[in-house]
Amino acid sequence: MKQVTYEGLTFEPYITREAINARIAELGKDITRDCAGKMPLFLVVLNGAFAFASDLFRAVEGIDAEISFIRLKSYEGMGSTGVVKEVLGLHDDIAGRTVIIVEDIVDTGNTIFRLIKDLEAKQPAEIKVATLLFKPDALVRPVKPDYVGFNIPTKFIIGYGLDLNGKARNLNDIYVLKEEK
Ligand code: HPA
Ligand code: MG
Repeated sequence: MKQVTYEGLTFEPYITREAINARIAELGKDITRDCAGKMPLFLVVLNGAFAFASDLFRAVEGIDAEISFIRLKSYEGMGSTGVVKEVLGLHDDIAGRTVIIVEDIVDTGNTIFRLIKDLEAKQPAEIKVATLLFKPDALVRPVKPDYVGFNIPTKFIIGYGLDLNGKARNLNDIYVLKEEK
């Protein structure tokens, strides 16, 4: 795998597609085990989580599950504003249900914290969070994801759904911003 360049920034290979696939298979088994008989609703946070959600949902096999897509954005370029807009596209009645929020990344936790609060008001039975990536050192909210693909340091990541200003989501592997030397 080679370095890639977006907007004049250089990124180097960080997590291979093989490693991603293997980890998602494990997460799928965990969720299958934990959610048997619960008919979980996967609530996918667009745009970033589309790739992860597609693979994760299909890794949950042998139990009934549903999937829906919502949108909300708080992240501009490489700095978090912490400003979360409203939840768009939630048309499901989640009262009494097991909801699994599917995120590409939990960084400051501002987005997911706000989303959990909004969803809790609709009285689901339980809310779980599945995130491909988690930056524990960047967290500023009391949030603990239930299913984490990879814990990573506070560095900027692209690929496999994660973007830099809308680009790089189609990279098959995950890349990290190269440190200036
Ligand atoms: N990359 C892309 N989007 C993000 C990141 C990141 O590291 N953190 C939060 N949103
Ligand atoms: Mg996201």
